[in-house]
Amino acid sequence: MHDIPPAFRPGYHFTPRRNWINDPNGLLWFDGEYHLFYQYNPNGDVWGDIGWGHAVSADLQHWEELPVALHADEHTLMFSGSAVVDTHNTSGFAGPGETALVAIYTACRRNPGGLQNQHIAYSTDRGRTWTKYAGNPVLDLGLAEFRDPKVQWYAAGGFWLMAVVLPDQHRVAFYASGDLKSWRHLSDFGPAGSTKGIWECPDLFPVEWQGGTAWVLKVDVFHGHVSGTTGSQYFVGHFDGVRFTPRPAQAARWTDFGADFYAALSWNGLPEGSGGPVWIGWMNNHRYAQTTPTQPWRGAMSQPRRLALREDAHGLLLVQEPLAQLAARRTGHTQVAGMRLEHGERAWPLADMQCDIEARFALRDAREFGLRLGAADGDHTLIGYDAASGAVFVDRSRSGLMTDHPNFPGRRAAPVEPGPELRLRILVDNCSVEVFVNGGAATITELVFPATPAATLALYAGDGGVDLLSLDLWQLA
Ligand code: FRU
Repeated sequence: MHDIPPAFRPGYHFTPRRNWINDPNGLLWFDGEYHLFYQYNPNGDVWGDIGWGHAVSADLQHWEELPVALHADEHTLMFSGSAVVDTHNTSGFAGPGETALVAIYTACRRNPGGLQNQHIAYSTDRGRTWTKYAGNPVLDLGLAEFRDPKVQWYAAGGFWLMAVVLPDQHRVAFYASGDLKSWRHLSDFGPAGSTKGIWECPDLFPVEWQGGTAWVLKVDVFHGHVSGTTGSQYFVGHFDGVRFTPRPAQAARWTDFGADFYAALSWNGLPEGSGGPVWIGWMNNHRYAQTTPTQPWRGAMSQPRRLALREDAHGLLLVQEPLAQLAARRTGHTQVAGMRLEHGERAWPLADMQCDIEARFALRDAREFGLRLGAADGDHTLIGYDAASGAVFVDRSRSGLMTDHPNFPGRRAAPVEPGPELRLRILVDNCSVEVFVNGGAATITELVFPATPAATLALYAGDGGVDLLSLDLWQLA
């Protein structure tokens, strides 16, 4: 069977061959392979019949799609969750000489208002086939909203640690287990930060900070995100083996300022010396995901992002950057020498919509400046800086095809700390733009669907001038 020509198919972001995906699930490194599971509908290109799809990669860049790992059944959907390598066979699922991978996920009954509880499944063949545990559920509170368990090995306490969300209560609950089968409640966190919409998909991970460890707790919000749609917030604090306590005087912060970075999850079990946590997000938005103009697939993952902490005026900041190995995909290189631009624009031809752009600016008196992908009189996306608000923005008001949601067009902005220089790293991949500001201090992720591919990249400045210090553009294979 041949696929229909795939409109807007990304060249270097993961998409399924066909059909619908949402959240990344069960991210795991084991025996030389990075596993990416994801919410997947094997029967269509809208949300439904949800189970876990599966792909593997040796480098977090090139993915091989494998058969579906966990199927929905007649009564139950397999919602989001995580997976661990049970190295010491605490679960007893491994036979002699085997290592079990264990997935911990939410089973959601199909009937309206259906019960949600936590189940496990295991694999002893490197994640190729999965067996649902006969003793499921392993954690059940009799609730209709209780989901998205993130489990990891908590070495300091010698137990498995689960962060799981009570969406309508705006709480993340923590549980401990010795065998992944019986769970003991430790504590709850929340409500806190943004509570306008339900909470989903918690992630909790340690990040090295000043020779010690700080903990980041991320949780997605279904309403009330800075983008006007869905998105995520995070807290930085301390996990003491029982509870998570945010750092004093540190408020919740937005993870990404765009509309299309959701349900991010960090990899479990990264090999020693990997250089800190790495996560990936669903590059889409439940508000309009079902009407994005792609086929025969729907939904993509973001680029995997390396995570670190940095101190700024508001406390500790989560810094996100593309992985170093993305640079290995760079091909054609265009370098533009530094220049001063006084009110106007300079344009260059763009070979295609798969590129990696690095630009450095020295701020002068322009009211607004930035880069335009596409011609001014055609479909285009602006990635710029607005001096009045001191913010970097992505503006997709005129980016091309829209979705059914009135908030799809618009400008999404991330405030930046003032400094003499502004650095932008922009990953463009046919239907997406990911912007990393000042070394990942802020990110903006947005989908765009230009009806005519952007054959132009322009530098523009309005009401004043700006100095472009350097601009490098690579095509990405
Ligand atoms: C987030 C989410 C999760 C849930 C899954 C269902 O996108 O709503 O809370 O587990 O998607 O597909």
